[in-house]
Amino acid sequence: MVLARTDSASGGTDAPGRALIPERTLRTDRWWQAPLTTFVLLSVWVLYALVRTASQRAYFVDKYHYLSPFTSPCVSASCPSEARDFGTWFGHFPPFFPLAIIVLPFLLGFRLTCYYYRRAYYRAFWQSPPACAVAEPHAAYSGETRFPLIFQNAHRYFFYVALLISLVNTYDVIRACRGSDGGFGVGLGTLIMLGNVVLLWTYTVSCHSCRHIIGGRLRNFSAHPVRYQAWTFVSRLNAKHMQLAWITLGTLMVTDAYIALVSSGAISDLRIIN
Ligand code: FES
Repeated sequence: MVLARTDSASGGTDAPGRALIPERTLRTDRWWQAPLTTFVLLSVWVLYALVRTASQRAYFVDKYHYLSPFTSPCVSASCPSEARDFGTWFGHFPPFFPLAIIVLPFLLGFRLTCYYYRRAYYRAFWQSPPACAVAEPHAAYSGETRFPLIFQNAHRYFFYVALLISLVNTYDVIRACRGSDGGFGVGLGTLIMLGNVVLLWTYTVSCHSCRHIIGGRLRNFSAHPVRYQAWTFVSRLNAKHMQLAWITLGTLMVTDAYIALVSSGAISDLRIIN
């Protein structure tokens, strides 16, 4: 017979009515590998992004108009005038202040409230819970209906801003089609930026909020064939949302790193056309 807990003051797996099992988990597989890997990879990425956004260095290649996605749009007087395609909105920023401060809070908000990333960092960083059928160390669980996690519900609004930011990134790719003589040209940097933007769009469109915006709240699809087609397309992408979340972290990093290497003179851009 499995005994049940009766202490009404406890929460989580100690909540009243839960089975009285002393072990944290009965799983015998390596359940800790996935949260540990997520913890390491996300930490490395955040550290890289922090260093790069705060460094204010090697983020722009004037000759080919390569602008790092970590610094776009560049709207401070601290940016080179050629990089300020959207004007100068602010004066000089102090050292270690992110030049893309205007979009970073929204980008962070979009990723942090993403349904997939929530699962990833709840497990990897908060251990809430670290894996299926593994008890979390916290005594209470307040869910996402109360402060502070109620802000996760703002995800759909961040999605709209993410669409605008993707448009800015797309514009950056168009600007990066510049040759050595100032005319049209394509280099490896252009292709890397293009690949990054295509994947960013794919990740953004595969968002659960996007899927709901396109196909949600309909009584029947037969009366809305276009929305049904769009919803089917987004649903296919949505099934790959986790993979896209990781891939785009990688492409953002690769794009920024490549631009940093070219900008600092460590390597030359491989030119394909002009
Ligand atoms: S659910 Fe991941 S971006 Fe919306």
